[in-house]
Amino acid sequence: MPDRPREPRPPIERIAVLIPTYNERENLPGIVERVRATVPDADVLVLDDNSPDGTGRVADELAAADPRVLVLHREVKEGLGAAYLAGFRWALERDYDAVVEMDADGSHRPEHLPVMLEAAAQADLVIGSRYVPGGQVVNWPVERKAISVAGNVYIRAILGMPVNDATAGYRVYRCQTLRTIGLDDVESAGYCFQTDLTVRTVRAGLTVVEVPITFVEREIGDSKMDGDVVRESITRITTWGVQHRLAQARRLLEREPRWHRL
Ligand code: GDD
Ligand code: MN
Repeated sequence: MPDRPREPRPPIERIAVLIPTYNERENLPGIVERVRATVPDADVLVLDDNSPDGTGRVADELAAADPRVLVLHREVKEGLGAAYLAGFRWALERDYDAVVEMDADGSHRPEHLPVMLEAAAQADLVIGSRYVPGGQVVNWPVERKAISVAGNVYIRAILGMPVNDATAGYRVYRCQTLRTIGLDDVESAGYCFQTDLTVRTVRAGLTVVEVPITFVEREIGDSKMDGDVVRESITRITTWGVQHRLAQARRLLEREPRWHRL
């Protein structure tokens, strides 16, 4: 992001680490343990969509053993975006200062969190970025990397947004950011939720800071990215892009009244 004077922000004291799960039974205990060890003062909220593999029960067991681990059970699988929206609302109702988004499969290393939280002292949104110097992706098949890189190039071009990893899923939001951008009209259900909220944050004039991370592809279980997730992303991002360009053209015409006569 371009450098703007960074205003002092209130300290972040209460943190909720949100972990969405769908069939992550084997991954969940390890990731929760690492988060608890790395940021012991943060609460962990598992957002489970009634996983058929019993992840919800594993989450309940972890919660029973540790008062800082909590679980939000949702009835049906409605997508990553819907699960996060439920988690954001949960955190906003409970007066947390910041929420962390983190995958359950180990791709987002909890060990990056202290640096990301440090960056959040002077940011409204911190993105753990694969595509800034120092960031990288380990063990992704070349097709998946191509989709991700091309998606980010497309997003930057069509939305005119100076963020290198707008689809990233490892983030720290100040709760105040979520209040400012508003969540009531967010419709993105799948992974394009990440881009959607990035656009809203940038358009609100808030400060986005990207911190380099190493994203390591999961070793256990499968990605939940499918055709629907990709189609929703392409459709919505293209629509936002067209709206953005039309709004730009309208502003230009208003500034140049002579053009109306052409
Ligand atoms: N509750 C819930 N509901 N959780 C879900 C759902 C859902 O419908 N879909 C996925 N998840 C959970 C998974 O269980 C996992 O913990 C996390 O969301 C990420 O899902 P993956 O399936 O592992 O995502 P990925 O590795 O393909 O994609 C990653 O990269 C994308 C961008 O490149 C993620 O970090 C995405 O957030 C990111 O947009
Ligand atoms: Mn993953």
